[in-house]
Amino acid sequence: MTDRKKPAKDYSIYFQPPSYRDAKRRGKEDVRVHYDFKIADDLKSMGKGKFYHIQTYGCQMNEHDSEMMMGMLEEMGYTWTDNREEADVILLNTCAVRENAEDRVFGELGHLKSLKKEKPDLILGVCGCMSQEEGVVNRILTRHQYVDLIFGTHNIHRLPELLREAVFAKEMVVEVWSKEGDIIENLPKKRAGLKAWVNIMYGCDKFCTYCIVPYTRGKERSRRPADVIAEVRELARQGYKEITLLGQNVNAYGKDFEDIDYRFADLMADIQKIDIPRVRFTTSHPRDFDDKLIEVLARGGNMVEHIHLPVQSGSNEILKKMSRKYTRESYLELVRKIKEAIPNVVLTTDIIVGFPGETDAQFEETMSLVREAEFASAFTFIYSPREGTPAAKMADDVPMEVKKERLNRLNELVAELSLKDNMKLSGQTVEVLVEGVSKNNPEFLSGRTRTNKLVHFKGPASLTGQFIDVKITEVQTWLFKGEIAAVHALEA
Ligand code: 5AD
Ligand code: SF4
Repeated sequence: MTDRKKPAKDYSIYFQPPSYRDAKRRGKEDVRVHYDFKIADDLKSMGKGKFYHIQTYGCQMNEHDSEMMMGMLEEMGYTWTDNREEADVILLNTCAVRENAEDRVFGELGHLKSLKKEKPDLILGVCGCMSQEEGVVNRILTRHQYVDLIFGTHNIHRLPELLREAVFAKEMVVEVWSKEGDIIENLPKKRAGLKAWVNIMYGCDKFCTYCIVPYTRGKERSRRPADVIAEVRELARQGYKEITLLGQNVNAYGKDFEDIDYRFADLMADIQKIDIPRVRFTTSHPRDFDDKLIEVLARGGNMVEHIHLPVQSGSNEILKKMSRKYTRESYLELVRKIKEAIPNVVLTTDIIVGFPGETDAQFEETMSLVREAEFASAFTFIYSPREGTPAAKMADDVPMEVKKERLNRLNELVAELSLKDNMKLSGQTVEVLVEGVSKNNPEFLSGRTRTNKLVHFKGPASLTGQFIDVKITEVQTWLFKGEIAAVHALEA
């Protein structure tokens, strides 16, 4: 960062703002794994009688990071509150992937300003991917000076120390490491419910031209297999019913190991042997999705028949401009192989419309690919320029009206395909993990199939956490209704 205006104030030793240039440097140096994380004894009573609130935006990785922050705060004696007015610490764990997510955070900061005025001792912190962005940190420094603490994605484990610093400092505490640090094991985690997230790797080296993630999350670093497996075994022992393995690009797992040849397929094969009923993973990059992985997934067992495989576009020209490093043809070939090996697989995807310069014809190629691949569902987005990424500098002559219209047409197609896929289950009996009383309709219980489809049915709330068989009686675009056919025997 050379041209950034220096903040007027003299910030503490913790003033360490982010730099994209440093973030982009991918060193060969080894990533060290630390097993000795500890919260200093004198910090363990800091939060006694005090309340905290964390607002989380964005992906599951962020949700899981929040669970770790919750774990640390509770070890410091803080208690969770839903009521922000009662909180002594409020953290916004932010997402940088699209502009509208960022706008929401800045809107929220505006609201919190008045709370901070009423309660000057409140510690207001911003963390997550937005804090890794140079522009965001500058904007907070100049326009939101009531923020007490900014820290990044690489130094979450520093939260207890940084919080102490923020409580005692007169100035804003900013600590954002541009370059990824080591892997910190044994952070406390406060998990909820029946499902657990498990990080298997951090960062992304793909540098798709539209994406900010390789800058905000650093280079690819895989957790050691033994550490992941020990965590999954422990979750099984604790009775979790489902885990989701997390990484920005899980298919690159293990590529960074220099001492062992152990990849994602090997990890999945080892996890397949662990007694946890359902295993998911997200998110996949088609480029690294290999035959060995398909073979392991095809064995089934606890590996569910749902694969999320972001395609982003169906046009080879756009895929090239996105630097996705595969073609429409190779993607469809991969889909064919997956469907052949796992006949009842449910495929979902991510799609960006309105990439700079996307023509009508190129968009139509996305529409036809979606039809050919027969996705059961898709997350669809209008391209959002991210400062510092190569695509943000590309000429874009596509009017927003056209982009919106494309998104609508795509969403209609996705809904049509979802209904078509759901119809396959009409009258069938499916295994459902009961998640509890439905939030939208308290008359019903809500649960999910192995393929992550939502099912509503009537039954006692005491079934929560159990696997049951449900006969599908009504098929909708995004939901099934059904009747309980059988309750599985409780596992020992
Ligand atoms: N604009 C729009 N969508 C984006 N995504 C990532 N970056 C952008 C961007 N700049 C989408 C991709 C990715 C998903 C998590 O978010 O589809 O798979
Ligand atoms: Fe972003 Fe591409 Fe990495 Fe996914 S694979 S996080 S889209 S750079």
